Amino acid sequence: MAVLSVVSEIFPLIKTGGLADVAGSLPAFLKPEGIAITTLVPGYPAVLAKIKDVVAIHHFPDLFGGPARLLRATAGSLDLLVIEAPHLYDRPGNPYVGPDGENWPDNAIRFGALSAVGAALGLGEVPAYRPDVVQAHDWQAGLTPAYMHYRSDGGPRAATIMTIHNLAFQGQYGPEFLERLGLPPHAMGIDGIEYYGGIGFLKAGLRFADRITTVSPKYAEEICTIEGGMGLGALLRDRIGDLQGILNGIDETVWDPSADSLIPGKFDRLSIKPRRLNKHSLQRRVGLPEDTETLLLGLISRLTWQKGIDILLESLPLILGTGAQVAIIGEGDRATERAVRDAVAAYPGRVGCVIGYDEELGHLMQAGADALLLPSRFEPCGLTQLYALRYGCVPVVARVGGLSDTVIDANEMARAEGIGTGFQFAPASVEMLESTVLRVAALWKKPALWRRIQRNGMRTDVSWRRSARLYAELYRELTMPEPIRLSSGRVA
Ligand code: ADP
Ligand code: GLC
Repeated sequence: MAVLSVVSEIFPLIKTGGLADVAGSLPAFLKPEGIAITTLVPGYPAVLAKIKDVVAIHHFPDLFGGPARLLRATAGSLDLLVIEAPHLYDRPGNPYVGPDGENWPDNAIRFGALSAVGAALGLGEVPAYRPDVVQAHDWQAGLTPAYMHYRSDGGPRAATIMTIHNLAFQGQYGPEFLERLGLPPHAMGIDGIEYYGGIGFLKAGLRFADRITTVSPKYAEEICTIEGGMGLGALLRDRIGDLQGILNGIDETVWDPSADSLIPGKFDRLSIKPRRLNKHSLQRRVGLPEDTETLLLGLISRLTWQKGIDILLESLPLILGTGAQVAIIGEGDRATERAVRDAVAAYPGRVGCVIGYDEELGHLMQAGADALLLPSRFEPCGLTQLYALRYGCVPVVARVGGLSDTVIDANEMARAEGIGTGFQFAPASVEMLESTVLRVAALWKKPALWRRIQRNGMRTDVSWRRSARLYAELYRELTMPEPIRLSSGRVA
């Protein structure tokens, strides 16, 4: 079975967040299930620089303003199709914003092109590669099912899945893009791609895909509500029978504390001691005094409203009152970055930070911090708590989305049963974070109990195994021939 994954970022070629980790790690786990995933990505400079075994398999004379080639290539064990279109993707900065931090003004066209190529493949227009299923990830790939709908001549086509990694990013653009995107005028309706008077990329995907998935069962429930639906709740409720939450897993070879080349002290569940080397190294890197005895609370994430950084900053006086240190690594909104720097200045030696994106520090945080704070207001899945579990860094999470599905609160009963793996709190508020950190600090003073929670976490299966099976089942279901209904109503 051939599945085309359409996505705007993929680790280790280009990454701004968890989407890249998922796109880069899932294919290897589907291979044993007999599923061959090929990933379609834009040819950003970072991607073109790293791909191997490149063969051009198709030529688009005019892909939204310039010629383009479709390259078949590999990167490690990943099979790729890369869109080489310099007029769209040969730019500095990350996939979405220029060096000035602003979104590229033609992002509708850049990701419309990604979706259009995905659709051409899904419709079987590229003889060299014909997928059975097309899986579109997030808004950047959202027009794929819509293009397939409007361009289909009724012939055989791939089945489609729209996967939501984050409903907060919807790809909303003005109606003036309709023609440039090559969509027909009648698409501009409520039953089409129209969204609040403009064009909705994610809306279009949710409207036209055969199935919809998101990255945790809890988030699948949350997005069908008015608040969690962020404008798309009614549409999602309409399609609830086609919606499924499948939890993300992690690549345990990239995230393996016993063989991680990015950390000084390797360790495993039976010998956690070397963690202290990592703790000291992390303390040095963020500008905190090296100290094994002090509880080190970490946070690593995009610095945005979603992640509740402001909640943490407001809770600092009480948190620091417990004697703990706080280490923050991240980049994001300029205002939030400034607020973090201000906190470091206000509490020298107690709060440390690195503002920036650094994969190595991502590993050091998990391997060195005692606990990881995730006061997210919403979290479709979250990967850092999964890395934390694997690295004996105790996750302290708001009870939302995938955080709720992956961390077992070490409450009285869970401790009695020996199954707690972290701490949960709700709602994501200053008061609840504060009282939870008090609970964390109290437990930290009982090393045997703390170590138990660490070990429970390290024993948790955070791999893709279970979820890969669920994706495989979904792909198979979608490609099964239509059942023949007998007149008795039974299915043959
Ligand atoms: P999201 O995709 O919403 O940002 P996830 O938890 O799914 O959240 O994934 C975030 C990914 O990005 C993780 O791999 C995390 O380690 C990484 N990450 C986030 N911020 C940084 C940073 N400043 N430096 C290095 N890695 C980071
Ligand atoms: C999004 C979400 C995050 C999720 C990631 C990968 O960026 O914010 O919760 O883990 O996608 O699915």
